[in-house]
Amino acid sequence: MGHLVAGREVSDFRSDTVTRPSPAMREAMARAEVGDDVFEDDPTVQALEDRAARLFGKEAGLFVPSGTMGNLVALMVHARAGEEVLVEERSHTYNNEAGGAAAVAHVLTRTLPSARGRLDPDDVRRACRPGNLHNPRTALLVVENTHNFWGGAVVPLEAARALFAVTREVGVALHLDGARIFNACAATGATPADWGATADTVTFCLSKGLGAPVGSVLLGPRAWIARARGARKMLGGGLRQVGVLAAAGLVALDEGPPALARDHAHARALARGVAEVPGAVVDVDACETNILFVRTRRGAASYGPIVEGLAARGVLAVALGALGIRFVTHRDVDAGDVERALAALRELIPAHGPAHGEVDR
Ligand SMILES: Cc1ncc(COP(=O)(O)O)c(C=O)c1O
Repeated sequence: MGHLVAGREVSDFRSDTVTRPSPAMREAMARAEVGDDVFEDDPTVQALEDRAARLFGKEAGLFVPSGTMGNLVALMVHARAGEEVLVEERSHTYNNEAGGAAAVAHVLTRTLPSARGRLDPDDVRRACRPGNLHNPRTALLVVENTHNFWGGAVVPLEAARALFAVTREVGVALHLDGARIFNACAATGATPADWGATADTVTFCLSKGLGAPVGSVLLGPRAWIARARGARKMLGGGLRQVGVLAAAGLVALDEGPPALARDHAHARALARGVAEVPGAVVDVDACETNILFVRTRRGAASYGPIVEGLAARGVLAVALGALGIRFVTHRDVDAGDVERALAALRELIPAHGPAHGEVDR
């Protein structure tokens, strides 16, 4: 149960990125055959890129240090400066990638609302414009699946296919931000290739639920990936003997996917337990994968103090404004950690209920 953060044993629900490399990963890293990947000499990186491309039914792959870089490279290669990229309004690309779309890719981002991450194909069709003297051309739609700030919601396969059909019809590219696409696989039974067939290009992360210490893979047509390699270099993402990291990524592809159902069960158990706590607001049925937002009847004013109280009890989670307190389950939390979180929330949520005379929000 738990792991060490700053020398202290904690139950760490802040993100699925906090996992430590497994013994098999460390072993593979130590033994990795490597070369200079900028010269395309690293056999372990190539093995990872090829395996990932085959898994998702794409021609080629490119190892990138992070999901953020994968998405940014995708924007740079799909869209020219001044062109428009459609993004879901709570998407990671729009909100949490440090404005790279504007600052680095020089594209306009236009946000669209959604039903828990599921964009309406008609909204997308209406938003796409061919470009003329006055309007920017719409170059790209980004679809996030599973959707982080919609509590790990899965965009169902049929919905993803419908979006791809629309973008094809209007001549716009579709990039799947599949940082947690393996969670979507675990939740639905769909395969990586099923999701791969719903997008022109895909980013997925090895360093989230799959447990690798570093890395993501960008996938797409061979000629497109060749251009992406140039954009990655421009961003400083051309790495040298990076097979030591790719080796952990290969182990993550073996070990990670079968373990995700357990993470989802832990998130569900947490959701069910919190739903019983007076003053808590959670949507148990909406907890489809490994992310749970806990809100309270008092609202956002209570989230900071509750997170502090949790930390004092050895439970780490993050307050994300009005979205609530985010708990993410992963390989390094178990049923004991879920129990510890629940025990703390049973104390803290009622203690931070609406003050006398305060209106519930
Ligand atoms: C949906 C989504 N996309 C992209 C990223 C970016 O990944 P990274 O932190 O590796 O840059 C994240 C990170 O949490 C994410 O949740």
